[in-house]
Amino acid sequence: MAVLVTGGAGYIGSHTAVVLHEAGRDVVVLDDLSNSSPAAVDALRALTRPDLPFVEADAADVDAVGRAIADHGVDEVVHFAAFKSVSGSIADPDGYHRNNVGSTVGVVEAMRHNGVSRMVFSSSCTVYGEPTDLPVTEDSPISASNPYGATKVACEELLAAEAEAGGLDVLLLRYFNPVGAHASGDLGEDPRGTPDNLVPYLMQVAVGRRESLSVFGDDYDTPDGSAIRDYIHVVDLAEGHLAALDALAADRGSRGCTAVNLGTGTGYSVLDVLAAAGRVIGRPVPHQVVGRRDGDIQRIWADPSLAADLLGWRAGRGLDEMLADHWRWQQRHPDGYAAT
Ligand SMILES: NC(=O)c1ccc[n+]([C@@H]2O[C@H](COP(=O)([O-])OP(=O)(O)OC[C@H]3O[C@@H](n4cnc5c(N)ncnc54)[C@H](O)[C@@H]3O)[C@@H](O)[C@H]2O)c1
Repeated sequence: MAVLVTGGAGYIGSHTAVVLHEAGRDVVVLDDLSNSSPAAVDALRALTRPDLPFVEADAADVDAVGRAIADHGVDEVVHFAAFKSVSGSIADPDGYHRNNVGSTVGVVEAMRHNGVSRMVFSSSCTVYGEPTDLPVTEDSPISASNPYGATKVACEELLAAEAEAGGLDVLLLRYFNPVGAHASGDLGEDPRGTPDNLVPYLMQVAVGRRESLSVFGDDYDTPDGSAIRDYIHVVDLAEGHLAALDALAADRGSRGCTAVNLGTGTGYSVLDVLAAAGRVIGRPVPHQVVGRRDGDIQRIWADPSLAADLLGWRAGRGLDEMLADHWRWQQRHPDGYAAT
């Protein structure tokens, strides 16, 4: 039996594929490479097995997903495949909706046709919008603050309805802000074009690919005025997926549809991250403060206690380890996978 990892050539999917493989799962990766590259698949195979099955397909293609399930005896799915840029979603809301909701519909249909019922879904803390009470629990109000977030809310509603109708058991994992890389330095985040997120941008500045980091806003209602996020090591996050699949397989209170936060419970500001990165890298990272950015919220961090109770999972890696691992990857691959 095997696990299908849609979007498995991407940043979080590839790290999760390694963790699942190391835990003894047979992993099948499906990705259309719209935001990743064949070199990422090569790196994944080098860390797992040279013949790790890879299917190049759109997750919205029900027949292609169905064939991948049938050909490899898949009995559980982790569905990462989606576009993830907030600014990209503001520029192209319908394209984001079509891809993110359409791929989820495709995967669910293919699972149903093939009698597969267990799914772990990549959701996001973006579904909480701008929270009024912190930390956010899974019962905090849902309100997307940008079109990307709206696609995650729509997918969560669709999956909850499918579970309600029977035939699907799904854990909606609401990730906070993944950073870091595999400890080898050979698997990491390689965004196409200009990075939307703080740490990949900061690392590209540190390695000399970009001149200076823009800090979007220093007038938020936070102690130093910059925005606060709950950063989580991508390998901790990957291990959260393994724990989620195990909980579904063992039916530990996970029937139907349940949302679970995956975060550390600690918030760091943009200026905290810049200071920590300067320590890890050994020199300050050039930056300048500019105005706030559309679609950004001011502060969020998780209450991660449900993940501990339900999945037996807790994040273990701290901010310095996240940044040191990300920096190792960036130094070994200054131009990302393109140069490997
Ligand atoms: N990185 C974050 O900050 C973050 C935070 C919360 C949630 N998420 C979610 O986690 C998931 C993975 O994010 P990531 O950071 O690894 O992004 P990523 O872009 O690195 O990985 C996504 C992968 O999915 C593929 N893909 C996109 N649409 C597809 C489709 N229709 N069919 C097949 N493949 C498709 C891309 O080629 C890419 O390899 C996404 O669902 C994202 O929304 C990410």
